[in-house]
Amino acid sequence: MGLLEVKGLTTQFNTKDGTVTAVDDVSFSLEKGEAIGLVGESGCGKTTTALSITNLLPENGSVSNGEVLLEGKDLAGLDAEEVRKHRWKDISIAFQGAMNALNPVLKIGDQIIEVIMLHEKIDYETARNRAKELLEMVEIDAERIDNYAHEFSGGMKQRVMLAMALACRPKVLIGDEPTTALDVMVQAQILDLIERLREELDMGMILITHDLSVMAETCDKAVVMYGGRIVESGKVEAIIQRPTHPYTEKLVSSFPDITKERTMVESIPGAPPNLLDPPKGCYFHPRCEFATDICRQQAPDLKPVGPGHYAACHHRGDEHE
Ligand SMILES: Nc1ncnc2c1ncn2[C@@H]1O[C@H](COP(=O)(O)OP(=O)(O)OP(=O)(O)O)[C@@H](O)[C@H]1O
Ligand SMILES: [Mg+2]
Repeated sequence: MGLLEVKGLTTQFNTKDGTVTAVDDVSFSLEKGEAIGLVGESGCGKTTTALSITNLLPENGSVSNGEVLLEGKDLAGLDAEEVRKHRWKDISIAFQGAMNALNPVLKIGDQIIEVIMLHEKIDYETARNRAKELLEMVEIDAERIDNYAHEFSGGMKQRVMLAMALACRPKVLIGDEPTTALDVMVQAQILDLIERLREELDMGMILITHDLSVMAETCDKAVVMYGGRIVESGKVEAIIQRPTHPYTEKLVSSFPDITKERTMVESIPGAPPNLLDPPKGCYFHPRCEFATDICRQQAPDLKPVGPGHYAACHHRGDEHE
């Protein structure tokens, strides 16, 4: 049994123009201490997957199908009260653009203390000491516990958010672009820190990023999404060295040197599908040079293309069947 098992997760948004299926039959499993990178272009459903797992979808969104099992327990079936118990403690999320999510009128220490006291029956002083330890853990001087968010730099705010996400020693940490918008030096520092804490706390981690080099450095497995669907999954090395789905090939080749470059130099021609009116068949077919009739008619299933490596393409992987 995996630590976190996502099975057939399907999430829809109601919009004035119709229903959008932002996550479409997504399944993966995360083991203790393992890191999975969730990658894909903007709008492919990464954040929605994270919000579905943590029951934090906005009003117009809902999980229409599937299960999210944490140590075998279905989180999707829980009511709001029970969900609150799990948040921070079992699964914690550091949001995309989290730097701006800190409350400007509360001292940063008090925000961390609040999270701790919500979950543990400990007094204020004990919680405050824990908050100090957490700040030290993310390499912020504990003396700054009574500062306000505006007194910190972007990278420091990101680290405060990380401290908050780690406050209750979660089993699973989800980082949604935790280093985007930070300069390269700070980015590297925070990634090192996440890496160290993951080992120390033996956490499972889902790292959402559009940056393949960040994923390559940090993660064990990769899940590549396109139009809300998984198009490829497997070990990070396999995905980087032997990308199999034409979309992953393009994504990987747009990073010429995975170990050095941090910017996507050559973007993939065309645009991801409009999920209000997606194409029939494989969502990637309008941008795919290998597309044939079957791709335009039928959505491909994920099939094995190597050990623990799966791709959803009609023209790949048959030799492994
Ligand atoms: N509240 C919402 N209402 C309607 N549609 C939404 C809502 N939130 C997201 N979507 C749609 O769901 C799809 C997936 O969005 P999501 O934010 O999950 O993408 P993402 O992969 O996280 O992208 P990015 O890399 O830009 O953060 C997009 O088509 C988006 O327009
Ligand atoms: Mg996102």
